[in-house]
Amino acid sequence: MTDDHPSLGSDPSRVVMITGAGRGLGAVIAREQAGPGVVLLLNARTSEELEGTAAACRSLGAAVRSIVGDLRQSSHREALAREVAAKGRLDLLVNNASELGPSPRPEMLGFSLDRLRDLYEVNLFAPLALIQLTAPQLERAGGLVVNISSDAAVAAYPGWGGYGSSKAALDLVSRTLAAEWRSAGVSVVSVDPGDLRTRMHQDAFPGEDISDRPLPEVTLPFWAWLFGQTPRRLSGQRFRAQSQEWEAAA
Ligand SMILES: NC(=O)c1ccc[n+]([C@@H]2O[C@H](COP(=O)([O-])OP(=O)(O)OC[C@H]3O[C@@H](n4cnc5c(N)ncnc54)[C@H](OP(=O)(O)O)[C@@H]3O)[C@@H](O)[C@H]2O)c1
Repeated sequence: MTDDHPSLGSDPSRVVMITGAGRGLGAVIAREQAGPGVVLLLNARTSEELEGTAAACRSLGAAVRSIVGDLRQSSHREALAREVAAKGRLDLLVNNASELGPSPRPEMLGFSLDRLRDLYEVNLFAPLALIQLTAPQLERAGGLVVNISSDAAVAAYPGWGGYGSSKAALDLVSRTLAAEWRSAGVSVVSVDPGDLRTRMHQDAFPGEDISDRPLPEVTLPFWAWLFGQTPRRLSGQRFRAQSQEWEAAA
C-alpha cells in the first residue's frame, strides 16, 4: 500500500474505487475521475503500473490510495473494503479488473472446471463481494456501481464461453441488484466497452496485429456522459460505450 496524498484524511466530497486501474481501461477511468476533492482507491496486482496511474491521478489533484493485491483473495477484498469504510462513503465503484482465463481459450466441452471456477472468482465473485462489502458506504452516498461487461456476454463466440459466461452472469447480477437496491438509492449498471487495444485484447489474439482497435481513451465521451447523469435514471441498464449515443430512462 502506498502513502496517502496529504489531503486524503480531510473530508472528501467524492470517494471512488476502481479495480484493475494499473493499465488499460481502468487507468483511463481513473484519470477521468481524478480531480480536487476526489479520493481514488485503486487496485491491481502490479505495483509499478498502479503507481503510474496513481501518480497521473495525483497530478490532476486527486488524493490516491493504491492497494496492491489479487482480487481472487478474500483477504484483499476485505482490505479494500476497510479503506472504503475508513472514508465513510463510496460514490462510485467500478468493477473493471477481469481475466480472460486459460490460453489458448478452451471450448466448453474441454474447459477445466477448476480453471472456470478461478475465472469466475475474479470476473464474477470478486465484483459481487466488493459490492456486498461496501454496501453500507454505497448506501450512505447514494452511489453508483459500474460493472464492466463485454460483447462476449451476449454472443456465443466459440472459445469465449468461459469468459463470456462470467460476464453474462455479471450482467444479470447487475440488473438484479439494480432492482433489489432501488429503494436504498444505490444504482447499478453494466457497460460493454467494446474492442480496445489493451494487454487483455492482445492476450486474446496472441501474435495478431491489433493496431486497428482503438485505445481505451475512445470510451472517454461515454464516461463523461455517464457520470454526468442522475444515477437513479441509469440503474438496471446495460450500455455500449462505443455506441454513438446513450439514453437514460425518462
Ligand atoms: N480490451 C477489450 O477489447 C475489452 C473488450 C470487452 C470488455 N473488456 C473488459 O474491460 C475491462 C478492462 O480490460 P482491459 O482490456 O483494460 O484489460 P487489461 O489492460 O489487461 O487491464 C486489466 C487490469 O485488471 C488488473 N487485474 C487483472 N486481474 C486481476 C486480479 N486478479 N486482481 C487484481 N487486479 C487484476 C490488471 O492488473 P494486474 O495484472 O497487475 O493485476 C490490469 O490493471 C475488463 O473487465 C475486460 O473484460 C475489454
